[in-house]
Amino acid sequence: MKKEVIRIEGGHELNGTVHISGAKNATVALIPAAVMADGPVTIVGVPNIEDVKNLTDILHLMNVKTQVKEPDHITIDPTEMENVVLDDSAVTKLRASYYFMGALLGKYKKVRIRMPGGCYLGPRPIDLHLKGFEALGAKIDYTGGLYTIEAEKLVGTRIFLDFASVGATINILMAAVFAEGRTTIENAAKEPEIIDVVTLLSKMGAEIHGAGTNVITIDGVKHLSGCFHEIIPDRIEAGTFIVIAAAMAKEMTVENIIPQHIDALLAKLQEMGVDMDVSIDKVVVRGRGRYKAIDAKTLPYPGLATDLQAPLTALLTQATGDSEITETIYPQRFKHCDQLNTMGADIDVRIPRAQIHGPKKLYGMDVYATDLRCGASLVVAGLMAEGVTTIHDIYHIDRGYEGIDQKLNRCGAKIWRETVEE
Ligand code: EPU
Repeated sequence: MKKEVIRIEGGHELNGTVHISGAKNATVALIPAAVMADGPVTIVGVPNIEDVKNLTDILHLMNVKTQVKEPDHITIDPTEMENVVLDDSAVTKLRASYYFMGALLGKYKKVRIRMPGGCYLGPRPIDLHLKGFEALGAKIDYTGGLYTIEAEKLVGTRIFLDFASVGATINILMAAVFAEGRTTIENAAKEPEIIDVVTLLSKMGAEIHGAGTNVITIDGVKHLSGCFHEIIPDRIEAGTFIVIAAAMAKEMTVENIIPQHIDALLAKLQEMGVDMDVSIDKVVVRGRGRYKAIDAKTLPYPGLATDLQAPLTALLTQATGDSEITETIYPQRFKHCDQLNTMGADIDVRIPRAQIHGPKKLYGMDVYATDLRCGASLVVAGLMAEGVTTIHDIYHIDRGYEGIDQKLNRCGAKIWRETVEE
């Protein structure tokens, strides 16, 4: 079978500017949220990634019209929408298709949808989402891989999340937007993507308070209308490029970012000794330094994002001494470590921790992107390695990074795609 791979000739110094795209993890919730409106919603800053293409396919199944004006402008028009069963392969290609649960349950009081897909990071249950829907008055049936979630009416209530889950917070608040009365989500997640979704819903006419804190209050409304919205920059893409710059850039500017969103990463890089100037919407990195080993722990926002753990681990293979990363969000999210070890790294994984013994010279090898951020860590490693690295299963990378190869080539990297027989 023919498949596309990414090849990277390592060792080239990088220089220049990288422009960060709109946030993937906001976009994948904003698109389902948009269908709750009665009229067209225009979203600007939409990244050109596979997850967006799959979500657009799902919209078309529901007879929601979409129009792409500029490459990153999408207008979503749900005026003639039909609440069909979402049983298509597009649903199983990404995790975030589960946001149609909250959006359609809220709008129609009924949704039928296949179990969502996405990166395998160890078990990823959705029990908190479902408990939230039940608390609002919905009944749930799961038969043959298909969820049916329906309610005669949704009534606002108090919901305490056992874990501050990003997905559960967004899903429950979307369902609650059309519930009767007030819903309070306690121990809500505080990620910037949640604020972005609430900003969109508020422009559409929702009554939501407290986004960005751990208590979100939603007062039900009857209708939402169309609006215009610009997506926040992708803090994980920003962090990935800052890590790349620390590894390989003489001087690289990472622009169109909100540095506060990646404070925890910047603090860790500073501790390693990375030379950076942080300003309002960009970070200038003078990389290729000699770095110190550090200890780090992934945590809910504003802690170090789990999605940056893999790229940071790749950089730490070049730091002097023993680093330790503890993963508290997805304790099994260490598949990238096997791939990095194939390239010459010395990483011991003792779940939920990885110990990285550095510095170790990396060599170009055939490696596999087992998930999106594993793919990002292999790009970091490939840029640092001696020789040519071939990354397989790059569909994971294309799900979440817009033109990572083009952005890097503009800065002097040697990275290209090839179709190979596998
Ligand atoms: N959890 C439950 N039950 C639930 C929901 C979550 O036990 O009902 C657990 C999860 O298993 C996990 C923890 O709670 O251990 C956090 O999960 P969360 O719900 O916060 O994650 P998510 O919403 O599934 C989003 C991002 C992930 C990111 C996490 C960080 C999207 C589409 N995905 O996932 O992004 O790692 O938040 O919390 O927004 C990525 O971009 O590579 C990625 C995986």
